[in-house]
Amino acid sequence: MTQRPGVLVTGGAGYIGSHMCKALAANGIVPVTLDNLRTGHRDAVIWGPLVVGDLRDRAALAEVLRTHRIGTVLHFAASAYVGQSVADPGAYYDNNVGGMIALLGAVRDTGVERLILSSSCATYGVPLTLPVSETAAQHPVNPYGHSKLMCEQMLRDHAAAYGLRYAVLRYFNVAGADPGGALRERHDPETHLVPLAILAAMGGPALRVFGTDYDTPDGTCVRDYIHVCDVARAHLLALRHLEAGSGDLSLNLGSGQGQSVLQIVAAVEAATGRRVPFVAEARRPGDPPVLVADPAQAAAVLGFRTERSDIATIVRDALPGFCAGLVA
Ligand code: UFG
Repeated sequence: MTQRPGVLVTGGAGYIGSHMCKALAANGIVPVTLDNLRTGHRDAVIWGPLVVGDLRDRAALAEVLRTHRIGTVLHFAASAYVGQSVADPGAYYDNNVGGMIALLGAVRDTGVERLILSSSCATYGVPLTLPVSETAAQHPVNPYGHSKLMCEQMLRDHAAAYGLRYAVLRYFNVAGADPGGALRERHDPETHLVPLAILAAMGGPALRVFGTDYDTPDGTCVRDYIHVCDVARAHLLALRHLEAGSGDLSLNLGSGQGQSVLQIVAAVEAATGRRVPFVAEARRPGDPPVLVADPAQAAAVLGFRTERSDIATIVRDALPGFCAGLVA
């Protein structure tokens, strides 16, 4: 019997990567994690071996790919703070674009057949039409979005030249956590809305609501929140799609539903039975008013539909990671 080619998860010690590893293991695939542990957590690597190493080291990366007979790379490792990317773009291009160049080189050196790239709705910038479909123009408005768009382009060019098969998955706002409680969202510093609203409900600092004068129903920004377990499941479908020899993919991953900042506040209050204290502040630079995915293409091509991405479930699943015993 031929051995199934291995799966490497770069950034497997991080928030989305670790949920991916759990989903792979639940489907009979032992994931190999590559992570430099700069923002990832060693104790989140539970379902397969951890290789501590830097993506930008092409030779070391090729050695890992050979040793573990990797056939598919799921590439999550990246710097992902929009604000930081504006303040320090060099670091973002170095880690995200430099990492991708080394990874594609190592993939080519070792004959890896498939690569699935974590991309972002940040590649669309401020979309002209809503919901955002995959054919929308990609004009990023910050270095993070630019770096992800460059990664997409490099991947497509490598695929055309060297026969690599690929899926580009553009996440909207990933939130929630493993409902089994094995994993949680742990960013330092935390900048994302759902964890910050939960922390405010727990007695942490009041939530700063960035902008209350947008042209939206309640004046606050609207985003499309998708459960991290739904994101992981979409990757499994993309993996099977590529393994079956079907065509390359560029897909949005979202629920198709928009939630305002104040609707998130209300969802956290309902789930905790506590008030979320907040203060209205100025708009955050680089924030588009509304970002909502058109999920039709992912549904048509992969049969992907979100299952846990209603906001009540997202908040309920996220809660235990922040406040055991607080759930109302
Ligand atoms: N927000 C607040 N207060 C906060 C934090 C966020 O009002 O303390 C608002 C933001 O202004 C935004 C919404 O809540 O309107 C969501 O903000 P997040 O920071 O949670 O997420 P982003 O919308 O900035 O996410 C973007 C992209 C993702 C990308 C991510 C990288 O949409 O694709 O940044 O961190 F991956």
